[in-house]
Amino acid sequence: MNTHLVTGGAGFIGSNFVLKKGDRERVRIVNLDLLTYAGNLKNLESIQSNPDHIFVKGDIADRKLVRELFEQYQPRAVLHFAAESHVDRSIDGPADFIRTNVVGTFHLLEEARRYWTNLSSGERKNFRFLHVSTDEVYGSLEEGDPPFHEESPYAPNSPYSASKAASDHLVRAYFHTYGLPVLTTNCSNNYGPMQFPEKLIPLVILNALEGKRIPVYGDGLNVRDWLYVEDHCGAIDVVLEKGDIGETYNIGGRCEKSNLEMIKTICAILDDVLPDSRYKPLASLMTFVRDRAGHDRRYAIDCSKIEKKLAWSPRESLEHGLRKTIEWYLAHGDWVKSVQTGAYRQWVEKHYGT
Ligand code: NAD
Ligand code: TYD
Repeated sequence: MNTHLVTGGAGFIGSNFVLKKGDRERVRIVNLDLLTYAGNLKNLESIQSNPDHIFVKGDIADRKLVRELFEQYQPRAVLHFAAESHVDRSIDGPADFIRTNVVGTFHLLEEARRYWTNLSSGERKNFRFLHVSTDEVYGSLEEGDPPFHEESPYAPNSPYSASKAASDHLVRAYFHTYGLPVLTTNCSNNYGPMQFPEKLIPLVILNALEGKRIPVYGDGLNVRDWLYVEDHCGAIDVVLEKGDIGETYNIGGRCEKSNLEMIKTICAILDDVLPDSRYKPLASLMTFVRDRAGHDRRYAIDCSKIEKKLAWSPRESLEHGLRKTIEWYLAHGDWVKSVQTGAYRQWVEKHYGT
């Protein structure tokens, strides 16, 4: 049986990936996650007694641990999701972003290289290191600019995107210098079940449910390209199996929306799903607040490379994906309660002053 070393598999995208992967094929997953505020073992409850899923609490920067995992489990691939991922937190305190996204990725690459160098020639050929990254490394677009493509120059604007850009460059360098068989994906904004509620989509859903104000940064006209998380996970699978080593692949939903459009759509679905809510119409909870520092105006992704070369395209429509997401949050009150404590509460009080 194949073994994959997944990092950050207790976070939003990583846990969605791990759960879906198990449904699709028999593969052993060694899931290395530090369980920061964003990591949640509740996401993995349904597979906690599955012998093909081995959870290891630990740091990607812990060389000894990572080396032991490579030696013990002999993975065919590394799927590197682990990161600090919230732009607002990176503005507030960039150090963790440099530590995990840059230095952590470096240590992981070093151990991957060491392991890969000692494999037999057949195993070396099959090995892959897939680095999960973001469209934010390309910077910001103005209205009317063509979308980002794989050759767009890097121009990161936040400590988060700068740290991800640095990690992308390290991954690239390990291919060019050492021949490590790497693949990099740069994806647009994801939404779906199990996203930590500091990010826009779950924040809107949960604030609307509780009748709390929905904070809209600046004029609300910043544009993001939105992709349902399962579509992202499917794309990662396709790149892992069919991608050309050393290549990067942009992944997007072909779904550009302003924040106001997204928030209004979510509120309209909730008005429909919760006809008895005493806060209706829920869009009336929208409150314009101070803009994010250095707020990127627009992200848009040209995903024609992965569409043409690897025959992947997004499947989920925004309306349907958002309904599924909303239904998931409505059905998982315990999950919501469990994450709305500690680090979450502190963040909300500090950032929004409520
Ligand atoms: P997340 O913040 O929800 O999860 C990150 C996970 O990494 C958490 O489980 C956390 O505990 C773990 N982690 C953090 N530091 C670690 C360390 N030092 N060692 C081991 N584990 C550690 O993030 P996400 O939204 O699931 O994003 C996953 C990846 O996808 C990230 O690399 C991110 O840059 C990228 N990405 C995210 C989006 C998005 O919209 N969320 C879009 C494109 C790309
Ligand atoms: P976010 O989910 O933090 O993702 P990213 O910054 O990585 O794109 O934010 C998505 C958009 O929503 C971004 O333009 C900032 C905006 N936003 C708000 O207007 N209010 C909020 O409370 C949050 C968290 C985000």
